[in-house]
Amino acid sequence: MIDKAKLQIGENSYEFPLIEGTENEIAIDIKTLRSLSNGVITIDAGYKNTGACKSAITFLDGEKGILRYRGYSIEELAEKADFLEVAYLLIFGELPTKEELAQFHLDIKDKAIVDDDVRKIIDAFPKTAHPMGILSSLTSALTAFNPTSVNVDSKEEMYGAIVKIMGKFPVLVAWAMRKINGLPLNYGSNSLGYVENVMSMMFAKPNEEYTINPIVKDALNKLLILHADHEQNCSTSTVRIVGSSHAGLFASLSAGISALWGPLHGGANQAVLEMLEAIKADGGDTKKYMAKAKDKNDPFRLMGFGHRVYKNFDPRAKIIKVAADQVLNDLGINDPILDVAKALEQEALNDPYFVDRKLYPNVDFYSGIIYRAMGIPVEMFTVMFALGRLPGWIAQWREMRLGKEPIGRPRQIYTGETHRGFNNISQR
Ligand code: ACO
Repeated sequence: MIDKAKLQIGENSYEFPLIEGTENEIAIDIKTLRSLSNGVITIDAGYKNTGACKSAITFLDGEKGILRYRGYSIEELAEKADFLEVAYLLIFGELPTKEELAQFHLDIKDKAIVDDDVRKIIDAFPKTAHPMGILSSLTSALTAFNPTSVNVDSKEEMYGAIVKIMGKFPVLVAWAMRKINGLPLNYGSNSLGYVENVMSMMFAKPNEEYTINPIVKDALNKLLILHADHEQNCSTSTVRIVGSSHAGLFASLSAGISALWGPLHGGANQAVLEMLEAIKADGGDTKKYMAKAKDKNDPFRLMGFGHRVYKNFDPRAKIIKVAADQVLNDLGINDPILDVAKALEQEALNDPYFVDRKLYPNVDFYSGIIYRAMGIPVEMFTVMFALGRLPGWIAQWREMRLGKEPIGRPRQIYTGETHRGFNNISQR
C-alpha cells in the first residue's frame, strides 16, 4: 500500500504520511508542512478538501449516496429504530440494550425540568422573535443555571451533562414554539416516550387533552433520526471548534444552533417552504424559477437543492419524499405545495445545469412539507432540525474532548497592506 505523499516546492521535496480510514478514505497528514518548508501552509476556503479530524461516528459517501451512523445504514435506522436509541448509538457508539435504553431515558427524564427563571428570559423576547434566536439564547442561558464546568475525564460528569441537555433541550424547543403561538409554557409528562413527550409539550392546549397521532409520531421519529448527525457539516464543525477551546457543552451547542440557522445550512428547510409558497402564489410557473436559479445574474437559488458532499441523491431526501407522501395521505391532506416540489424536482433532474453540477434534492427539500402537515409553523422548521441534530452535536463534542483534540485555530494568507506609518488625523 502507498503510505506516503510527496510534495515538490521548487527545488525541495517533502514527504508526508497518508492516513487511511476504515472505509478506505485517504488523507495526507500535512501537519509538519509549515515547519519543514519554512512557512508554507495549505489554503482551502470553505474546507472543501480539508479533513478537520478523525471521527468514528458517521460515514458518508457523497458520490454513492451512502450515510451510516456508527456503521448502521440510515435507511435501516429510519425504518426500524427509535430516536432515543439512535441518540444513544451516536453518543456512546453502540445500540443500547433494553435496560441501557430504559436507564438512559430515566436519567433524561430526571433532568427534564428547566429552571423556572428561564421563563423570565423567554418573556423578554418579542413575540416576533425567530425561534432559532430564542433557542440559541436559551441554550446558552442554561450555562448560567448550570455553572459548574464538566470534568470531561469523569465518566459520571460527562454522562450527567449529556442527559441534562437531552432532557432540557426539548423543553426549550417546545417553549420557543409556544412563545410564537402565544401558548402558556408547560412541561410534558414523564410517562410519555421521548418523541411523544416532545409532541405533547409542543402541541398540548391548556383547555383540552392532547392525544398523540401515531402517524405524526412515526413521521417525527423518522425526521429526527434522519437529521441526527451528518459528520463535519457547518454546525457540527462549529460545535467542535467552540468546544476545542474547552468551552462547555451548552455554550458549544448554542454556537452550533446559530450556525445551523443560516439558509445555506439548516435554515434551508424554512427557505424551501417559503420558496414553494412564492412559486405557487406566482401561478406555479416552475420553469420561470428554474430559469432564475440558472441565471448567474440572479441571486435566486433553488433552495433544498445541492449539497457540499452529496453529488448523488441525498439518501435522506429519498426517505423523506416517501414519508411526505405517506403522511399527507394518512392525514388526508392535499397540499398543492407538494405538487410544486415534485414538478421542480422532475425539471431539475432533467436539466443539464443541475445534472452537470450534480445538484439533487437534499434533506431539506421535502422535510418542510411534513412539518407543515404536522401543524408546525414554518419558522420552527430549523428548530426541529436542531432537535434532531442534538445527539450528533453531543457525540461529536464528546469525541473531540475525549480525543484530546487541540484547539481549532486555522491559519491564513494575509492579503492586506504591508507595513505603513501612522498619519495624525489632521494630516489625513
Ligand atoms: N440552485 C442553483 N444553483 C446552484 C445551487 C442551487 N441550489 N446549488 C449550487 N448551485 C450551483 C452554483 O451556482 C455553482 O455553479 P457554478 O459552478 O456555475 O459556479 C455550482 O452549483 C456549485 O455550487 P457551490 O455553491 O460552489 O457548492 P457548495 O458546495 O459551496 O454549496 C450548498 C453547497 C450551499 C448546499 C449549495 O448547493 C446551496 O446553496 N444550496 C441551496 C441551499 C440549501 O439547500 N442548503 C441546504 C444544504 S443541506 C444542509 O445543510 C442540511
